[in-house]
Amino acid sequence: MGIIELEHINKYYQMGENQLHVLKDVSLTVEQGDYLAILGPSGSGKSTLMNVIGCMDHADSGEYVLDGEIIHKAKESELTKIRNEKIGFIFQKYHLIPTYNVLQNIVMPLLMRGMKLKDAKNESLEIIEMLGLKKRMKHRPSELSGGQQQRVAIARALVGQPAILLADEPTGALDKNSGTEVLKLFQRLNDMGNTIVMITHDLEVATHAKRIAKIVDGELTLDA
Ligand SMILES: Nc1ncnc2c1ncn2[C@@H]1O[C@H](COP(=O)(O)OP(=O)(O)OP(=O)(O)O)[C@@H](O)[C@H]1O
Ligand SMILES: [Mg+2]
Repeated sequence: MGIIELEHINKYYQMGENQLHVLKDVSLTVEQGDYLAILGPSGSGKSTLMNVIGCMDHADSGEYVLDGEIIHKAKESELTKIRNEKIGFIFQKYHLIPTYNVLQNIVMPLLMRGMKLKDAKNESLEIIEMLGLKKRMKHRPSELSGGQQQRVAIARALVGQPAILLADEPTGALDKNSGTEVLKLFQRLNDMGNTIVMITHDLEVATHAKRIAKIVDGELTLDA
């Protein structure tokens, strides 16, 4: 049983009279320790698929099991809990809280789980050091470079020890060098055993993953 098991997923958007079929019978297995890139052009359904994988939106049909949890039958409240526990999100535009400093941003997922601040800080220190953020802990996001902000977002995604890291265009807002740094970091995190799903429209970025799944017009195909 994979960490991610998607079976015959369909998703539609209703646009007035018309129904847009955006995910077409998508099936996908991601094993523990995998590093998968989902590659596709604009409008192909990447974000829609990410929302389904990330438990932010239900599919209209099909089955989804994430790390043993049956997602397609889960209620909204259960979904939120599963999302907080199982998924570390990394977005193109970092999505850090601007009024919080680096440390406050990183410990937030642990506080949301009810951990005390002191314990949350201790729990995060190793990751903060690993990502080279120790000297920046008191900085606000606006006082950091884009690459540093993305490292904070990655640290925040990692602290809760999620079942998967789910990244949507993680290098999309970065210059070439910072983008390369993030991809090197993903490589290292995957070598350490983290399961990564990375969504991108950029073939060069996708080739850094172990496997590539292509999505075109809502249809997903796996490269051999
Ligand atoms: N909320 C919505 N309501 C109606 N149609 C939508 C909605 N969200 C997306 N779509 C349509 O679904 C299709 C897939 O959109 P999606 O955002 O998943 O594409 P994408 O691959 O992420 O594109 P991009 O690379 O530009 O972010 C598009 O044709 C889009 O117009
Ligand atoms: Mg998108």
